Amino acid sequence: MDAIEALKTRRCVRAYLNKPVPREIIEDLVDCGRLAASAINIQPCEFVVVTDAAVRQQLAGISDYGRFIADAPVCILVLSKDTKYFLEDGSAATQNILLAARAHGLGACWVAGDKKPYAREICGLVGAPEGYRLVSMVPLGYPAENPDKAKRPLSDVLHWERY
Ligand SMILES: Cc1cc2nc3c(=O)[nH]c(=O)nc-3n(C[C@H](O)[C@H](O)[C@H](O)COP(=O)(O)O)c2cc1C
Repeated sequence: MDAIEALKTRRCVRAYLNKPVPREIIEDLVDCGRLAASAINIQPCEFVVVTDAAVRQQLAGISDYGRFIADAPVCILVLSKDTKYFLEDGSAATQNILLAARAHGLGACWVAGDKKPYAREICGLVGAPEGYRLVSMVPLGYPAENPDKAKRPLSDVLHWERY
């Protein structure tokens, strides 16, 4: 799958097959996350891969709209040092991971981090050092659903020269 196809067909997937994801693929997803654009090239992101079922249960229980983390074989936590542009950097990394997952035939979903009251608790749960923020959680696995959520048409959102 080429990059354009991956990004045009990516949708959030919240149901997964009971099939393990090879370690090399998980490493490649994190590699794609680390290569994302970063303001002033500070590269403040760190990635915690959680496969342990008990910890995934905890993450699912702590989050409000992330219950399905318990059912995903893998959850990648995108953390960032608290820099001026940590949210933009962490979001770019998160999107790279979602697209790479799609290209590898996996399904993944962006679960909210930073703006949620549980963000600090999750940082503590995975042992993040002081001064790090949770940007997102990305549960992923081989997809058990194929959602096709509607998007606003190009003609609605594209403005040439002026709004
Ligand atoms: C910043 C952000 C936070 C999100 N948080 C959640 C979440 O907590 N739980 C969830 O199920 N989906 C979450 N999503 C996924 C959105 O619901 C999803 O992207 C949106 O419905 C569009 O669907 P699509 O990703 O399939 O195109 C989040 C997406 C973004 C960008």
